Amino acid sequence: MIVIPGPASKELGETIATKLGVCANPAEHRLFPDGESYLRLPTGVEGETVVLVQTTAPDPDRKTMQLLIMAKTAKDLEARRVVACVPYLAYMRQDKRFLEGEALSFDVVLGLLESAGVDDLLVVDLHSEESLADIQPRHSIRVHTLSAIPVIARYLKEHGYDGAYSLSPDAGRKDIVEAASDILGGGFAFFEKTRDRHTGEPTMKVKDVDVKGKKAVVFDDIISSGGTMARAVKGLKDQGATRVAAACTHALFMPGAEERLKEAGADLVLATDTVETPYGVVSVADLIADHLKGL
Ligand code: R5P
Repeated sequence: MIVIPGPASKELGETIATKLGVCANPAEHRLFPDGESYLRLPTGVEGETVVLVQTTAPDPDRKTMQLLIMAKTAKDLEARRVVACVPYLAYMRQDKRFLEGEALSFDVVLGLLESAGVDDLLVVDLHSEESLADIQPRHSIRVHTLSAIPVIARYLKEHGYDGAYSLSPDAGRKDIVEAASDILGGGFAFFEKTRDRHTGEPTMKVKDVDVKGKKAVVFDDIISSGGTMARAVKGLKDQGATRVAAACTHALFMPGAEERLKEAGADLVLATDTVETPYGVVSVADLIADHLKGL
């Protein structure tokens, strides 16, 4: 097995390679003056299982393009199997056609990866397993999904949130808060979230939850603008929660997100290293390496 960290995941790719007991062979990368990416793979991929580690944020279009170029090159160089390890998969949220004419971008990305020669795609906390079940049959690519929520919950348990209530911003994430609650032990609930399909503005309500005097953690797959998480944190603080942690797998953190969370009263903000940010205190390297060992 050859592990090739792409330009977006050099550090994580190297850590994964170390955990697998192999050398990381990073792809050579530079930008042409016009902004196009130059990529060169290390030698020796012929006949090998090649694991490309490349997250796709920030700058999703460029990083997706780099991934496609690396995958196609590995296949051209006669890799036996190409595994795209994409800790954060851009476009995974656009997986349903809510308005007529909307693009199913998740489906498009899977198709592109497949045509570039990717045999296996490994993703951490995919936005919706349900949508994957609908879309995957259109493709021959094998998709492996891993959840970082138990790893985050274990970290929180050791950092002052043992016994905390686990919440998710919408009912679709019931499974993840159940898993978190098994670790933190404080019970779980979810907010009811609806989103205006034209403006994207969410409305959130939490029902039948008594967090007064308790610690709570809100778990989400992504923090982007921070709006969803901030609403959840504020709601819990308004209901008397003593301490609230805002936890996510993928920290996209658009401008203003940190301020929004602070203003909402978040006592702790944390994420994994699927996207490199200062909040990525929990590593997904073990999770990914363990899965790769079984491939
Ligand atoms: C949406 O369905 C996701 O699970 C996240 O809740 C959402 O992407 C967070 O976005 P934002 O931080 O912009 O509210």
